[in-house]
Amino acid sequence: MTVTPVISGAGEAAAILRAGGIVGLPTETVYGLAAVATDSSAVARVFSAKGRPNDHPLIVHVDSPEMASRYGDMNETATKLASAFWPGPLTLLLERTPLVGDDITGGRDTVAVRMPRHHAALAVIGLCGEGLVAPSANRFGHVSPTTVRHVLDDLDGLIDAVLDGGTCEVGIESTIVDCTGVLQVLRPGAVTVADIEACTGRPVMDTRGPSRAPGMLASHYAPEARVHLVRSVDDALGLEAELVADGSTVVLLGRGLGITEYAATLYEMMRHADDSGARHIIALEPTGEGLEAAVRDRLRKAAADTAR
Ligand code: TXA
Ligand code: MG
Repeated sequence: MTVTPVISGAGEAAAILRAGGIVGLPTETVYGLAAVATDSSAVARVFSAKGRPNDHPLIVHVDSPEMASRYGDMNETATKLASAFWPGPLTLLLERTPLVGDDITGGRDTVAVRMPRHHAALAVIGLCGEGLVAPSANRFGHVSPTTVRHVLDDLDGLIDAVLDGGTCEVGIESTIVDCTGVLQVLRPGAVTVADIEACTGRPVMDTRGPSRAPGMLASHYAPEARVHLVRSVDDALGLEAELVADGSTVVLLGRGLGITEYAATLYEMMRHADDSGARHIIALEPTGEGLEAAVRDRLRKAAADTAR
């Protein structure tokens, strides 16, 4: 038995949100923890349930580009990207409008907005009639959730409900692209740099210097087990043999998986390794571009954070 109810109706989820509640919401990337974006007390509960620092800004989830333009300036680049990739795993960083509170942006003059590709999420947003903030529905610093079970493992008793939308299809968080000036990808995801360049006809510049997406470089995406990255199955098996000889339990990630499946199962496998008490995770590091780069990004963060 869980304390937090698992619900299946978009209408029920929307009613809880409109009454000021916070709800685990399925999207195609990972589950989010939703609150009505303009309800500052519900937004405050999202931060406290997650244990998330207040200066880490939140993404506003919308059901159309028109709704997005209430929260941010949908300039020409943003409009092109939205028509090509929404609904889908792409978050646009925009100049914010006065409707957006400092609590969502951490006081920045930009806001992150995305239209998710999940029928339940879109139905709930539509019924609320306004944007929903939804950070990933995990405790701060933990691996993002891709099932209802994961949400409850982290947040049971701390949130008002979780809407069951099955297993998330993409499995890693959305690409974040800054549309406010020079085009930059602040977080890689399933929509790739090549996709963005082809759509906009503009180059995506390297991100250098201090990260403009707070929380992105910090400890994130981390399981309990120590994560080791290797480039080949031979290296993986060699390291596994060494660690097992020391008496450690080891889980191998990524072997024999295509990149889509690797992304879709990555967080599930990390949580599974922790649940089974594994001390070490050996993960094959993808070397290519696109979704491979996005999986590599999450693996490197997990490895950095567990190299204690
Ligand atoms: O796929 C996703 O994007 C998921 C699902 C639930 O939609 N959401 C998600 O939210 O990953 P969260 O809060 O875990 O990550 C949002 C990231 C944070 O790293 C934050 O720093 C960045 O977006 N972000 C949000 N607003 C920003 C802003 N105004 N400026 C810079 N970065 C921002
Ligand atoms: Mg997150």
